[in-house]
Amino acid sequence: MKTFDVYPINDITITHAKGTRVWDNHNNEYMDLYGGHAVISIGHTHPHWVKRIEDQLQQIAFYSNSIRIPLQEELATKLGVLSGKKDFDLFLCNSGAEANENALKLASFHTGRKKIVAFRKAFHGRTSLAVAATDNPTIVAPVNETAHISFLPFNNIEALEAHFNKEGNEIAAVIVEGIQGVGGINVASNEFLQSIRKQCDLHGAVYIADSVQCGYGRSGKFFSHDFAGVDADIYSMAKGMGNGFPIGGIIISPKIKAKHFMLGTTFGGNHLACAAALAVLEVIEAESLVQNAEKVGTYLQSALKAIPEISGVRGYGLMIGFDVPESHKNLKKDLLFKYKIFTGEAKPNVIRLLPSLALTMEDATAFIDALKTAIAAYQQ
Ligand SMILES: Cc1ncc(COP(=O)(O)O)c(C=O)c1O
Repeated sequence: MKTFDVYPINDITITHAKGTRVWDNHNNEYMDLYGGHAVISIGHTHPHWVKRIEDQLQQIAFYSNSIRIPLQEELATKLGVLSGKKDFDLFLCNSGAEANENALKLASFHTGRKKIVAFRKAFHGRTSLAVAATDNPTIVAPVNETAHISFLPFNNIEALEAHFNKEGNEIAAVIVEGIQGVGGINVASNEFLQSIRKQCDLHGAVYIADSVQCGYGRSGKFFSHDFAGVDADIYSMAKGMGNGFPIGGIIISPKIKAKHFMLGTTFGGNHLACAAALAVLEVIEAESLVQNAEKVGTYLQSALKAIPEISGVRGYGLMIGFDVPESHKNLKKDLLFKYKIFTGEAKPNVIRLLPSLALTMEDATAFIDALKTAIAAYQQ
């Protein structure tokens, strides 16, 4: 048997990793400003995370949700404190798509409605409703197509209001990324998120904040949606939550009430996943990583803005995007293969930076120096 060939990959085999560094099987060292797609939040193989998982493994790795799992309660309490959403409830699952599926399903149960509002360039996952709410027809299979989803222009308050005025009493939920990730690092304006809050309140719909990529401290706030100063009803999370250990979840406003069996999962919230997620929050708190993301991200953005060849520097904290000219479209590959730096990309010619929240000023400076050298090579 071989693996199903669905990924265009770089011909690199990573064998070990530490902090913001990874090494390949030829012992080449790389700086990781991609974090395996925004997953590495506290740094690769962080010793506290490794120890907490190892210790848990010696106790019990898994039991189903048919028994009490105090680690889930511990995680919910800690998440409430660090996110500032103490009165929300936590439901745990295993991935970002699953978190969004549960969020959309819950919104539909809560409102008794079927229609969903999503936005142009949105990415919410690859399963059923999550992919239907994703603005990329090439990954939507015929069976996923549904008339329940409307795609509106991102950051367009007039279009949102007009849509709610037309069919507001049928809308179950609005789902929106605080910063669109796969779409190319597009920041939702505060006014836009406030307007979503307002329309959802006026028409009895649920505001779902997809925080799978932009959440968990990456933006310099726990949830990037918090920049707007209004709460969502449900926040979906995954990626940085386990620092590579698969775990996802949603936190749910107290106005949405639970009923037995409305949601469920076999693996979600297992002992090992909770231990990993708790370790992540403990490190985020102990090492002030949300503040670090803000500080190093601000520095990176101003250093990037001073490079004339690139444009459109945008984002918050350590979720940064910038545009490179068509003539420099191989820059990401150059950074990887010539300068040994992992970055992310988006179409057309956008470079995305999604490093660990523990990125140091020294590494940020080293990256800027390498980027300038890589760009200068185009002039020769
Ligand atoms: C904003 C957002 N939502 C949902 C997902 C889906 O997460 P997963 O791949 O864990 O299912 C992603 C993945 O890139 C994402 O960026």
